[in-house]
Amino acid sequence: MDEKSTQPAQPAMTNPRAVRRARPLAIITLLLVVAFTLFRYQTAHESRIHGFNELLHSSSSPPSSNSKLVPLEAHIISKCPDTRDALRELILPVMQKVHDKVDFKLSYIGKPTDDDDGVECKHGPSECLGNIIELCARELYPDPKISLGFVMCLTKDYKHIPERALIEDCALEHAIDIKDLNECATRDSGAHGMDLLRSSVQRTADANVTISCTIRLNDEVYCIRDGGEWIDCPHGPGVNDLVLAIEKVYRS
Ligand SMILES: *[C@@H]1O[C@H](CO)[C@@H](O)[C@H](O)[C@H]1NC(C)=O
Repeated sequence: MDEKSTQPAQPAMTNPRAVRRARPLAIITLLLVVAFTLFRYQTAHESRIHGFNELLHSSSSPPSSNSKLVPLEAHIISKCPDTRDALRELILPVMQKVHDKVDFKLSYIGKPTDDDDGVECKHGPSECLGNIIELCARELYPDPKISLGFVMCLTKDYKHIPERALIEDCALEHAIDIKDLNECATRDSGAHGMDLLRSSVQRTADANVTISCTIRLNDEVYCIRDGGEWIDCPHGPGVNDLVLAIEKVYRS
């Protein structure tokens, strides 16, 4: 949403000219290019794993499947500075404090295309591919300490999503197997990755969410990061505000 700096009030998906078509064929072509390059890289660097994010990979246990976990969800698109800001300023610090109390989910914003089972992404096919890679990381590594760390690593450099070098570096940093990531994104000629993206954008559409990044707590909008600012945050956009709100729901 880089163009939003000049149009701060522009919601994510309302300008039809800003929505470029991401057809399955375009996605599959991109996937095959990425698949090939990732595979080449992977064979050369198979044993090199380093640089764990110390905060995210601290010695805590993964979340249990306790039914009392509080639903916390961020609706994002991969190539967006508001996604970066929301993850960096709010979601990550909050997760470091209360990850054992929340059921965290990242969902994507886009438009399912009826005629060809594709998805339109605001920043075009490359953003759809970035979204698919992030969804695959989540499928392979359900523990948010790994998958959210990987997404944070990518989003810090969102303009370069889905370039090979960035994906490789972030995968190495978070101990994500690039071969598995590649297999997920390209399975059934890309149909599997596209299915993940279509169900995710449908989930977002069902929640009536259109702005990246919208944060929902307990299935209600908690706060929105848009155009470089926090908007619609009645309980406050601070880390402690959200931590307190989560603990309140957790106790109830
Ligand atoms: C989304 O909007 C529709 C139409 O306005 C409404 O019927 C539905 O209840 C809304 N869903 C949620 C989860 O807010």
